[in-house]
Amino acid sequence: MSLLNTFSFELPTEIVFGVGACGNLTERLSQLKVGRILIVSDKGIDESGLLDGIRNQLTEKGLDHKTFDSVEANPKDYNVQQGAEIAADYKAECLVAVGGGSPIDCAKAMAVVAAHGGTVRDYEGRGKLTKEPIPLIAIPTTAGSGSEVTFSAVITDSREKFKFSIKDTQNAPRVALADPEMTMTMPPGLTAATGLDALTHAIEAFSCKVSNPISDAAALYAVELITTHLKTAVFDGHNLEARAGMLMGSILAAIAFSHSDVASVHCIAEALGGKYDTPHGACNAVVLPAVMAYNMSYCLENYARLATALGLAYDSVESGAQKAVQAVEKLAADVDLPDFNSFGVTENNFEELAQNSVNNGSNIDNPRPMAKEDYLNVLKTLGSRR
Ligand SMILES: [Fe+2]
Repeated sequence: MSLLNTFSFELPTEIVFGVGACGNLTERLSQLKVGRILIVSDKGIDESGLLDGIRNQLTEKGLDHKTFDSVEANPKDYNVQQGAEIAADYKAECLVAVGGGSPIDCAKAMAVVAAHGGTVRDYEGRGKLTKEPIPLIAIPTTAGSGSEVTFSAVITDSREKFKFSIKDTQNAPRVALADPEMTMTMPPGLTAATGLDALTHAIEAFSCKVSNPISDAAALYAVELITTHLKTAVFDGHNLEARAGMLMGSILAAIAFSHSDVASVHCIAEALGGKYDTPHGACNAVVLPAVMAYNMSYCLENYARLATALGLAYDSVESGAQKAVQAVEKLAADVDLPDFNSFGVTENNFEELAQNSVNNGSNIDNPRPMAKEDYLNVLKTLGSRR
């Protein structure tokens, strides 16, 4: 990467980070001068009691509020349409998304559709918004997607079983209230999967074709934080320092990829998630080492720098790069993530998965060009490890 290249860096989201950050909700709502609040979440979060403190804050300040908690994992187009109708009927002045990437992405898309009309697929791609979406405040309960600070929403087309993205700076939340205590209820499996999603964001942002010095700085520190804290967060979920380290790591990784890009790991993970509804982070964890191995010859120096961030010593750039790939594979194994075999992928779907991976908008930014045949080879390699 050359420091002579021109780039711009815009971060429209205010990040309030730390224990107790959620307590700033009503103050931020009053700064935005909004009164009718639609909380967007999922059934699991609602049943866990995590929304009680949010609702209490709103009630205490006399703010009118309502909850839409029907968002599914890998949020579907029909979740967005239903939520957007509810937001429009309720005349919501602000959405407060509480959850992992699914509720936050769904709320972003709801805010767009409620403001513009039409269907969510109308806004697929970059820069399609012509009006300001309903303002959004995001409160993450996982440390992975980083959706609370990104410009994009990833939605599943339920008929075509294909994930698509809406990308626009206006789609960024106005405020992210990032409170590590809100992530404490995450079970080990979800902590591991979302943590590997964040690690993948950092690695792909750092090694893809469109990185810049600021995204690189964020990505490398994200790798360091995630490597330091992931296992403790998974196996000792009440360790607040580890939870805070993972939450900051995921935010930095998201700042990195939203100002750079993700690449072929996400192309495959999104194809898998669209087809089989498999957890996004687990898909990334399985695919990451295989795509890093494919990219290796184009990324030796970058992967060696990743090895340093992963805390590894090495004798040469080549050995550092090899060690980085091995360490990533070991980390995924250490936190007990499922393997490719468990996703229910059948070989007769490889063609469709490879085609959807090539069609993904981030394919072009993978450091090594990757055609449909190359995706097929990676899928076959993953499939042969049954
Ligand atoms: Fe991701």
